[in-house]
Amino acid sequence: MPKIEESSESQSHQTPESPTQLGGASSYDSDVKEYSVGEGGEWHHCAAQGELALTTNQGLVIADNQNSLRANIAGTTLLEDFILREKITHFDHERIPERIVHARGTGAHGYFELTHSLEAYTTAKILIEVGEVTPLFARFSTVAGGAGSADTPRDARGFAVKFYTKQGNWDLVGNNIPVFFIQDAIKFPDLVHAIKMEPDRGFPQAATAHDTFWDFISLTPESMHMVMWIMSDRTLPRSLSMMEGFGIHSFRLINGAGESTFVKFHWRPKLGLQSTLWDETMKLAGADPDFHRRELFDAISAGHFPEWEFAVQLFTEEQAAQFPFDHLDATKLIPEELVPLQVIG
Ligand code: HEM
Repeated sequence: MPKIEESSESQSHQTPESPTQLGGASSYDSDVKEYSVGEGGEWHHCAAQGELALTTNQGLVIADNQNSLRANIAGTTLLEDFILREKITHFDHERIPERIVHARGTGAHGYFELTHSLEAYTTAKILIEVGEVTPLFARFSTVAGGAGSADTPRDARGFAVKFYTKQGNWDLVGNNIPVFFIQDAIKFPDLVHAIKMEPDRGFPQAATAHDTFWDFISLTPESMHMVMWIMSDRTLPRSLSMMEGFGIHSFRLINGAGESTFVKFHWRPKLGLQSTLWDETMKLAGADPDFHRRELFDAISAGHFPEWEFAVQLFTEEQAAQFPFDHLDATKLIPEELVPLQVIG
């Protein structure tokens, strides 16, 4: 039971000298009481020695978050009460709005192990020290559907990997298709609005094949390459662990001498690339909307860990100048005949 002592002072607890721990909760030296009672009869929290004190979100020790400041006994809550404002604002934002794209996703922890050093091309230790094991988190997602939508619709799949390297976190996103819809990012909001539900009716959900999408595609010739991939079996993966991943963009690696090499990243599933049939996909969406999430969870629980080879395409600026296309255009891929994949981990 808390010790309650009546006090004639409105704030009779001991003021902390300095919080010993920042953020969320702090502890400070106070050996008197755990609560005191203020002028209005309200309890004031006072942390005893070694106890965690009540704080604001910024770690400021406070005595009370149950009574707002008022102009007088009868009421008129005062907006200058920053504790009230912080508490209510925090509460109002407790639900993070759903992401506009890739809202439906499933992830797992794992690791990356380097088998082939890229020391000649980079100074990043994760790509240099063979045998180095780097923890990572991978998240796979559909693009169009909401957070509660089914796993199996025809859609590109996101491939988001966060490597927790010794030199800091490295985020690498990809898709399970090697090209993208558009050449200029300024069209992305228009593309996504076209992919999402028709604005006047809110359907179809999680499905690209409807009028606004085809209107967009018919007016955007650069999208045709991606549409061919979208209409292939790749957009009906049998399992999340049976998808290829592509970083799509060209990145630059810089070595110790300051020399640069272009790189494209690829993930290749050890289980091979496999898809469902359209009929299977349709039935699965109804019978088990969580089909991919469940399959990944069950496989990991049973010790059947999904695995990918991580590969790169490396090429110089001089080579790139010889390509009959612009490799910085995300609607183009670099044929493997031109630049073969090298597995590095
Ligand atoms: C053309 C410009 C693009 C724009 C403006 C764009 C924008 C976005 C936005 C706004 C999100 C949601 C972020 C969030 O709510 O936290 C997102 C997520 C994502 N994007 Fe893009 N995107 C673009 C192109 C791409 C491309 C080319 C790829 C593939 C290489 C890609 C892969 C992803 C993935 C995998 C996610 C989900 C990340 C996760 O699971 O955390 N995006 N993108």
